[in-house]
Amino acid sequence: MKDYPKQKNVKDITGTKPKMSSTRTILLILGFLSTLAVIALIAVAVTQNQPLPKNIKYGIVLDAGSSHTNLYVYEWPAEKENDTGVVKQVEVCKVEGPGISGYSHATEKAGPSLAQCLQQAEEVIPSAQHKETPVYLGATAGMRLLRLQNESAADKVLSSVGNTLRSAPFNFQGARIISGQEEGAYGWITINYLLGNFKQSGWKKLLLSLKSSSETSGALDLGGASTQITFVSKVSSESPENQLYFRLYGKDYQVYTHSFLCYGKDQALQKKLAMDLQTVENSDLPDPCFHKGYERTINISDFFKSPCTSDMKKQLPFSQLYIKGEGDYQKCRENIQKLFNKSGCPYSRCSFNGIYLPPLQGDFGVSLHSFFNSL
Ligand SMILES: *[C@@H]1O[C@H](CO)[C@@H](O)[C@H](O)[C@H]1NC(C)=O
Ligand SMILES: *[C@@H]1O[C@H](CO)[C@@H](O)[C@H](O)[C@H]1NC(C)=O
Ligand SMILES: *[C@@H]1O[C@H](CO)[C@@H](O)[C@H](O)[C@H]1NC(C)=O
Ligand SMILES: *[C@@H]1O[C@H](CO)[C@@H](O)[C@H](O)[C@H]1NC(C)=O
Repeated sequence: MKDYPKQKNVKDITGTKPKMSSTRTILLILGFLSTLAVIALIAVAVTQNQPLPKNIKYGIVLDAGSSHTNLYVYEWPAEKENDTGVVKQVEVCKVEGPGISGYSHATEKAGPSLAQCLQQAEEVIPSAQHKETPVYLGATAGMRLLRLQNESAADKVLSSVGNTLRSAPFNFQGARIISGQEEGAYGWITINYLLGNFKQSGWKKLLLSLKSSSETSGALDLGGASTQITFVSKVSSESPENQLYFRLYGKDYQVYTHSFLCYGKDQALQKKLAMDLQTVENSDLPDPCFHKGYERTINISDFFKSPCTSDMKKQLPFSQLYIKGEGDYQKCRENIQKLFNKSGCPYSRCSFNGIYLPPLQGDFGVSLHSFFNSL
């Protein structure tokens, strides 16, 4: 619309210079044409803004984390117009209670815990489309730990969850524990999709190649029971299980990923406390990592059940531990650093605990979804 005054100016100027009559005609024609173009653009914009007969597809994903489960409803246009079909999140529902791995003692209750959020999804999605709407559940490190601890309990939890999802009016596509590599890959794809790194214009591509900078961001994903680090790495990997290849928008990516089981924020804290317990003298544990005035009681009999702490199991002359916060940053830092074993790297480079790490490349995006969800 800003073009109108400009066109007027063009006409006025040409109007005062009758000598350049042919130029003037051309400018007038150009002015007319651009007016037409503006009208055409407006017309297109108006028709595109009109709600065309909607043909929307839906999908449901349940993200079953260690501390809780979230249900997401997505929608996208059924006819993708030259790859411009964009998936949009239209609903998120936080399932009441613990993560599904928290039902190891009452596995039959894992599935029913999802019912309320499924009900909500039924209300969001038009009922005519329920039958064709796929529903998936992906469980992460909480269930990986439960599987290590008690495989039959993990299977029972998954089958309870599967039964509930099958009885919902949607198209059940599966409920399973995803691998650490898959989780790393999804985190990396999510961050780069949100940053718009996959579909770059020709100019941005050229600029990036001139700066020889990385086109994608690495992903650090801090969960409750595991943490993933994932980034594009062009060096040939010394550790094949940390290597992923995928093709997105017609481009190949070679990606390094590792999921550190037990290094999510909850399990890392358990590990830290387990280490503290090795040297504790009585049932009072002053803890520099909690603020002054914080107090918490821990039941020792449950404490060493997690595979993250079971190798530090210790007989103690007391059954409960009383944690008292000290709020001392420096001491906390030293305390936490004991969780990272920097010795004994079988590769040219390691992050910690003997895990291969290629040279870091590019920027990093950090996802603290578990952290913020727990606030
Ligand atoms: C996609 O683009 C091509 C040419 O650019 C066009 O011929 C085709 O009709 C488009 N398809 C859709 C579904 O818009
Ligand atoms: C494993 O889980 C099953 C089912 O919940 C339970 O019956 C069994 O006692 C558990 N086993 C152990 C060793 O905890
Ligand atoms: C600790 O947990 C066990 C079972 O998980 C329970 O039987 C016991 O009563 C608890 N002890 C205390 C002191 O809370
Ligand atoms: C660190 O790792 C090395 C090699 O794997 C091992 O020998 C050592 O005991 C570990 N140190 C600690 C404190 O766990």
